[in-house]
Amino acid sequence: MAVATVPEDEIKKQLEYIDKIKALGQNRKYFIVTLGCKLNEADSESMAGMLEKMGYAPADSFNDANIVIFNTCSIRENAEEKVFGKLGELKNIKAQNNMIICFAGCMSQEPHVIDKIKKSYQLVDIVFGTHNIYKLPELLYRKIVQNEEKRIIDVWDIDGEIYEGIPVKRESKTQASVIIMNGCNNFCSYCIVPYVRGRERSRAPEDIIHEIKELAKDGCKEILLLGQNVNSYNPREGYNFANLLSDIDKIEGINTIKFTSPHPKDFKDDVIDVISKSNKISRVIHLPLQSGSTKILKDMNRGYSKEEYLSLAKRIKEKIPDALFTTDIIVGFPGETEEDFEDTLDVVRQMDYEQVFMFIYSVRKGTRAEKMPNHIPEEIKSERFNRLKTLCDGMTEISMNKYVGTIQKVLVEGESKTNKEVLTGRTPSNKIVNFEGPKDLIGKEIEVKIVSQHVWFLKGEIV
Ligand code: 5AD
Ligand code: SF4
Repeated sequence: MAVATVPEDEIKKQLEYIDKIKALGQNRKYFIVTLGCKLNEADSESMAGMLEKMGYAPADSFNDANIVIFNTCSIRENAEEKVFGKLGELKNIKAQNNMIICFAGCMSQEPHVIDKIKKSYQLVDIVFGTHNIYKLPELLYRKIVQNEEKRIIDVWDIDGEIYEGIPVKRESKTQASVIIMNGCNNFCSYCIVPYVRGRERSRAPEDIIHEIKELAKDGCKEILLLGQNVNSYNPREGYNFANLLSDIDKIEGINTIKFTSPHPKDFKDDVIDVISKSNKISRVIHLPLQSGSTKILKDMNRGYSKEEYLSLAKRIKEKIPDALFTTDIIVGFPGETEEDFEDTLDVVRQMDYEQVFMFIYSVRKGTRAEKMPNHIPEEIKSERFNRLKTLCDGMTEISMNKYVGTIQKVLVEGESKTNKEVLTGRTPSNKIVNFEGPKDLIGKEIEVKIVSQHVWFLKGEIV
């Protein structure tokens, strides 16, 4: 996997644009709408970092924002519809606030989306893609300082490069997401990601380790390593994801290391070994199944069978007995029969997942599955989805019940969103725990006794 890095000069140029915009010195605000996955969230942190260096402050809503950025997701159709709905709502506010509207993220890499913006969404001022986020300062400079009248569309068809040295605004002091690789070479037949994020490319380990050491110095305790396919991480001959994990494991101050998403076909024994020997790497392993049917897995181009998936889980459990699994499942892929769906339910029962992220198959333009025969009628898809959900809800309840009466190590994240009197945190297995306590516990790891379980969270008391 190649590591192409944006030249330092190019980044320097962007930092100069940042300074020029900052020099305008007005009181301005930004609002970023982030849709989709953790990688988009991390990209939004870079956009926010650049904007704040330009002198922008975060706005509470669209209403008082001078710059709005839509960081979009194209993984399923409903995510796309949501964005166009929101854009439509901005017409009146835009005129009042002299607002600049930017359209970014995965959707901007899709030609049909660009056509739609050109035709029906005059209010969009700047479109940029997933490969050139670091150019945001220059694009804004052209609009704000050079007053370029025409809409700017800067979307690159080529595969992106890794960039370093752009300011990042972290949402949390105690936890940080760190992108280790970007892009995907797998071309699962249903998935748009390889088309909108380009080919796999890895960041240099030295840059990742330096960034995590700096985060640790700043009080960060938990790191989430991100990539579309983290276990394909391969910046150079002889250095892989297992090497990176064991190097990060040595960084003082970091207590918890998580990663997402790995691909089952690339989950090798060296990674299992590193996890088993570490007391920092999370035991919750996301192992996206997608389907339990070997026939459907083949049509999905997943590169493993039902049996191979189950035997990988068994190997992981043998070496890491306290491993817990979470997964992604797509229901209603073209050609999925009742028997195929039963295979999915069978794997779910055998795996006893901690959490299942369930999706109804959504046709994506330009993917191989779009052209496959035997698309499943919507009502059958929903009926299967509901059956899977019933099974998973029952299993979640049983798994949550196991916590009641136990003492858990909880990293305190902050006040609960729904009740400011209550603190919230997570167990090492990622369960949300709410409890009463003083605010100075935020950012610390404490022991909490679980007293009851609710649908989505556990209630606890400090011990
Ligand atoms: N339809 C439904 N779900 C999808 N996913 C990816 N592409 C599609 C699609 N076309 C799901 C997969 C993936 C998760 C991030 O989104 O389960 O793991
Ligand atoms: Fe999409 Fe498959 Fe790549 Fe995941 S591994 S991003 S599902 S193509």
